[in-house]
Amino acid sequence: MTGDDRRKTTRNRIKPSTTNEDHNNKLRNRKLSQKERSKDQIRILDVNFVTLGFIIMTSLFVLFFVFRSVKFLDGDGNGDVLPRVVTPFNGPKIMDLEMFQGEHKESLYWGTYRPNVYFGFRARTPKSLVAGLMWLGVKDGQYHMRHVCQDADDLQTYGWNKHNGRDYGHQVLIDHGMTLTTSFLKSKVNDSGYGGDWAFRLGVQSEKLSENMPEAAQLFFYVADEGENALSLGRSVTEIYEKSLLAFGSRHDVGDWELHLKSNDDFEVHHIDIAFVTGTDIDDARVEERVDSLTGTSLTGQFHKKESEFDDKYEKIFNPSDKLDSESVEVGKAAIGNLLGGIGYFYGQSKILFPQPSKHRSDGDSILYWPAELYTAVPSRPFFPRGFLWDEGFHQLLIWRWDKHISLDIIGHWLDLMNIDGWIPREQILGAEALSKVPEEFVVQRPSNGNPPTLFLVLQDLVCGMMRNRFSATESKEISTFFERSYGRLEAWFQWFNTTQSGKDKSSYYWHGRKESQTIFELNPKTLSSGLDDYPRASHPTEEERHLDLRCWMLLAADCMHSISEQLVNKKESGKAYEETAKLLADFDLLNKMHYDKDYGAYFDYGNHTEKVRLRRQLVEKNGNQPSLELVREVLEKPELRLVPHVGYVSLFPFIWKIIPSKSQILGKQLDIIANTSTLWTNFGLRSLSKTSSMYMRRNTEHDPPYWRGPIWMNMNYLILSSLHHYSKEEGPYRERAKTIYNELRGNLIRNVMENYKRTGYLWEQYDQKKGNGKGAHPFTGWTSLVVLIMAESYSEC
Ligand SMILES: *[C@@H]1O[C@H](CO)[C@@H](O)[C@H](O)[C@H]1NC(C)=O
Ligand SMILES: *[C@@H]1O[C@H](CO)[C@@H](O)[C@H](O)[C@H]1NC(C)=O
Ligand SMILES: *[C@@H]1O[C@H](CO)[C@@H](O)[C@H](O)[C@H]1NC(C)=O
Ligand SMILES: *[C@@H]1O[C@H](CO)[C@@H](O)[C@H](O)[C@H]1NC(C)=O
Repeated sequence: MTGDDRRKTTRNRIKPSTTNEDHNNKLRNRKLSQKERSKDQIRILDVNFVTLGFIIMTSLFVLFFVFRSVKFLDGDGNGDVLPRVVTPFNGPKIMDLEMFQGEHKESLYWGTYRPNVYFGFRARTPKSLVAGLMWLGVKDGQYHMRHVCQDADDLQTYGWNKHNGRDYGHQVLIDHGMTLTTSFLKSKVNDSGYGGDWAFRLGVQSEKLSENMPEAAQLFFYVADEGENALSLGRSVTEIYEKSLLAFGSRHDVGDWELHLKSNDDFEVHHIDIAFVTGTDIDDARVEERVDSLTGTSLTGQFHKKESEFDDKYEKIFNPSDKLDSESVEVGKAAIGNLLGGIGYFYGQSKILFPQPSKHRSDGDSILYWPAELYTAVPSRPFFPRGFLWDEGFHQLLIWRWDKHISLDIIGHWLDLMNIDGWIPREQILGAEALSKVPEEFVVQRPSNGNPPTLFLVLQDLVCGMMRNRFSATESKEISTFFERSYGRLEAWFQWFNTTQSGKDKSSYYWHGRKESQTIFELNPKTLSSGLDDYPRASHPTEEERHLDLRCWMLLAADCMHSISEQLVNKKESGKAYEETAKLLADFDLLNKMHYDKDYGAYFDYGNHTEKVRLRRQLVEKNGNQPSLELVREVLEKPELRLVPHVGYVSLFPFIWKIIPSKSQILGKQLDIIANTSTLWTNFGLRSLSKTSSMYMRRNTEHDPPYWRGPIWMNMNYLILSSLHHYSKEEGPYRERAKTIYNELRGNLIRNVMENYKRTGYLWEQYDQKKGNGKGAHPFTGWTSLVVLIMAESYSEC
């Protein structure tokens, strides 16, 4: 493994410890306790499948699976009253709103909602008909089955280059000399069943066949039913040549359905078109017509139309203000395309750490959250194909600009996951597909831990857009309705933070849940809940701590709540408390008193801290085992309460939230820190931590390389850029300087992301601060896609 591959396993977004099939099999095969068995397990190992046939040159096998699922048990069967932590928020669900029913719901029924596989299709329903593609790839002279997105497959590139989040997408995958394209299209005609029909086109093109390459590509298309509905095979499947009925079945949601195949050769590219038509029980005569229109040249024509609609929409929404080369525009489309194409639908139950031991439970016991569905974008299809609360706010900054309905639907799903205390589990591992990517020890969510409430970034944009009449009357009305229904939940969310994460001093906050017990093995105890994992904080966690980033997130939340209350008919009164809290948190003098270091000219956390710590190898006895050599932290100086002198992203939070008056000298100091190559500035974007920090690029434990201790992250660069843009328009002595820095930083970020894409075929999780090369998970079209907004110079609407 290279250094880059040896990434952390304990972190905010937890990555599987290995990515090979062995590991996944282990996860599936691991012994399940009786309790775990009650989860919605898809027993992939039990399935029946039939190989159906093949066609010349490219072999196509069609497999049919019947997934049998095990039913949920109610509760956990030991007689306790349902604990608070797994009791849903007491109020009407957002997803029950009229605006999310009817045509809206139907239009989003089918989709590529299985982001973890190279190509997968399902409906937004717990027990769906699912379809997917597998193929046999060749690497190092050996066959490997491709199905689930994984690094080990070593594809040169893959991702949805275009995808509108609704009814069209086009993906290119390059697998060692073989280029596959997957395109899909949905169509709703009078006769179709619920959700309409869909068509899928697979294109295969081989470069020069090498000696090691087989003569033909082996492709497998499968259909499976998570419900227990029967699937039947078409009569002619053993001779798939021209056009044929592959399979048919019946479901309560879509009525009778049929799957047809029509294949096609031209000189270079081989197609197969697969058409899925629903409601076939209603009018038999029209089925053939519909299949014709969803295959062959008719399909080609519709793809062209959809493609140019996508291009026009991109141009209209993300039209760059300056002229970017056409290559950058294509990368921008691939970024938003794969973000939209990566949207998934999940159904299942989170595992929650049981808060207090009781007579039935011991410490560390977990309990299941209620069965819930989540429709959400994901950070990375191979590594993080599930919902992450802190990432989602950044994803929605892009998605609301593209499609407000999709965005509200996603935000609504997230807020509906709130429990009665106003808490939302930060990582959503729902259902067997999501679970298969997460090592067992990271599955359990802690109800005492938060995560940055980034959804307020989007809500703030929406409320400001309304206030400034940027939306149509219908849109504003829908957003209002959404706010009305979600207000109670947002209040509860705010209150959860305002009470459980508050600090000792008035108007101070800190991320609770830093592990003190672990301190001796960590150079600096991590703060996973902040989203910034190993970003250095006070060396000794205490209740005296004040975290600057959380304080600023609270300002955003309070300010946003106040703005929303102003837009609603009868919430103005309740909005006053938020206005006061926002005022308090935006108080410049108070902020400076609590967090500003005059000597350094920077903002810092406050806590029980010493700089004099190091890791030394020592013999330690763990859990009664033989003593072994471990890295142990040595503290060479007594910690004391003080500002924690690490310059980095956290230091810039007051700047990001525009608390600093544009005429203040402190603004000048912030610009100094940003533009200084000895601190944060690089030619590729801003470092997460200053080169001058004692923790710069330091490992936290033997197995924990630096993560937010140097590398460049797009989400924070976007927020900083947004603020530079703001100050470059404000009257004051630093205006010109802000503008110059803004332009240079923007140019650096765009150029580096583009160069990496050109060289590697991917967008990356983070970028190296020395060389600019992409690092970590890839493709990572979560917040790294914010480069699209950076190109478009599209920032906060407020
Ligand atoms: C579909 O239904 C509508 C309303 O019932 C009708 O006006 C239209 O002609 C139909 N279209 C087709 C193609 O049958
Ligand atoms: C947040 O908590 C503080 C301290 O308890 C309180 O004074 C303030 O009113 C709270 N804010 C809101 C909006 O409830
Ligand atoms: C700071 O940490 C040290 C070492 O754990 C402890 O002895 C001291 O009491 C702490 N100080 C405060 C103010 O909590
Ligand atoms: C840049 O930062 C370094 C380290 O803090 C400092 O020594 C130097 O004076 C700064 N340079 C400028 C031009 O501010």
